[in-house]
Amino acid sequence: MTDTKKDANAMWGGRFAAGPDAIMEAINASIGYDQRLAQQDITGSRAHAAMLAAQGIISDKDAEAIREGLLTVLSEIENGDFAFSTALEDIHMNVEARLKELIGEPAGRLHTARSRNDQVATDFRLWVRDQVDAAIEGLDALIRAFLDQAEAGADWVMPGFTHLQTAQPVTWGHHMMAYVEMFARDKSRFEDARRRMNESPLGAAALAGTGFDIDRHMTAEALGFDRPMANSLDAVSDRDHALEFLSCATICALHLSRFSEELVIWSSAQFRFVTLSDRFSTGSSIMPQKKNPDAAELIRAKIGRIMGAMVALFTVMKGLPLAYSKDMQEDKEQVFDAADNLMLSLAAMTGMVSDLTANRDALAAAASSGFSTATDLADWLVRELGLPFRDAHHVTGSLVALAEDKGCDLPDLSLDDLRSVHDAITEDVFNVLTVDASVASRTSYGGTAPVRVREQTAAWREKLS
Ligand code: ARG
Repeated sequence: MTDTKKDANAMWGGRFAAGPDAIMEAINASIGYDQRLAQQDITGSRAHAAMLAAQGIISDKDAEAIREGLLTVLSEIENGDFAFSTALEDIHMNVEARLKELIGEPAGRLHTARSRNDQVATDFRLWVRDQVDAAIEGLDALIRAFLDQAEAGADWVMPGFTHLQTAQPVTWGHHMMAYVEMFARDKSRFEDARRRMNESPLGAAALAGTGFDIDRHMTAEALGFDRPMANSLDAVSDRDHALEFLSCATICALHLSRFSEELVIWSSAQFRFVTLSDRFSTGSSIMPQKKNPDAAELIRAKIGRIMGAMVALFTVMKGLPLAYSKDMQEDKEQVFDAADNLMLSLAAMTGMVSDLTANRDALAAAASSGFSTATDLADWLVRELGLPFRDAHHVTGSLVALAEDKGCDLPDLSLDDLRSVHDAITEDVFNVLTVDASVASRTSYGGTAPVRVREQTAAWREKLS
């Protein structure tokens, strides 16, 4: 290019008499963050160049020079030898400008039948797809860690809570398997989103397609996409894939946050249900006795920024007319930050769960406090004495009040005590008042009985193998 005016942009400055104001450059440039797309940008450009040559749009010789030169650019970037320029705005123009320095004139042919609009849509989709794969892998490891815990403690009893008040005894394995279910749903959400996002925008050009005889199926296949996107306007303006990624990430972060909260409660001196490993705890600089669940607290908080990113991008995208608008450049930082923090949270949670020690004695002691077998008593009155459930509920309530008065738990009441409230009660009732009997009796599908838990752990083990 010989006619570029001094200071005007080397890539698009033909009609400009002057270069941009420094403030304009600052608000316009994305190179500070979109350099993370370098590998995807170069992979996309290499596929595009090969296709242009295969279609006879550029020569094989030029395509070869472009493809080789792009590999040199990539290695410069990966080795930290690349000087990113704000004047060149973004990763796409930085790469192309460097290619021009390296190989000269053929570099100018790369952008034939392409626009930065389909280029960035392609790069970003490839990047998000990689993150989806990383999330699936991270979830897989986390699910296995929960499964290990569930298998080890399929029959350990603990209190089950509603309203964080003792409700009914459950098994440790059952509680762990609840998270296996949640994180498996998260994984399937990412898998589902991946199928939908796996279409190629490349070749949509600026918005309307191109008059060149390109082969979009060829580039789609080279980039591992299932097919090209069917509508060029949609291809350059759609960010659903990023919105879906952030939505899946937000639900996953929510599940991570809930278990984090349980870990914070459970590891307190008042509960002592679990001990976190030293590897995933921190100390206090003033209180020597402290062992803090910082990782759990931070993961509990991460949903703030992940959901924030989701809300931010939804807000950016709403009301945008077709096709591309520069607003869409605001998609990247949100997704980068959310992805980084999701992956870190998954890894930290997997570490914590793998290292976690359940304190069986504390769990068992808590399980048998708080009249946790009251429902079992009411069920016994229904089954053995034929009482309507509402009456049984009332009788049991009176017995709980009696036990509370006496400062004991339900199994500690004498038969006379029990008969003082309902005279048909027999010795037999004591069989259902222990927590082990309680959990063993809950054999309905999906219930907490150890036999059911073991069926579930075996089924998941099989599914994951
Ligand atoms: N940096 C831009 C982005 O991220 C690339 C696309 C620019 N397209 C344009 N027509 N100015 O969105």
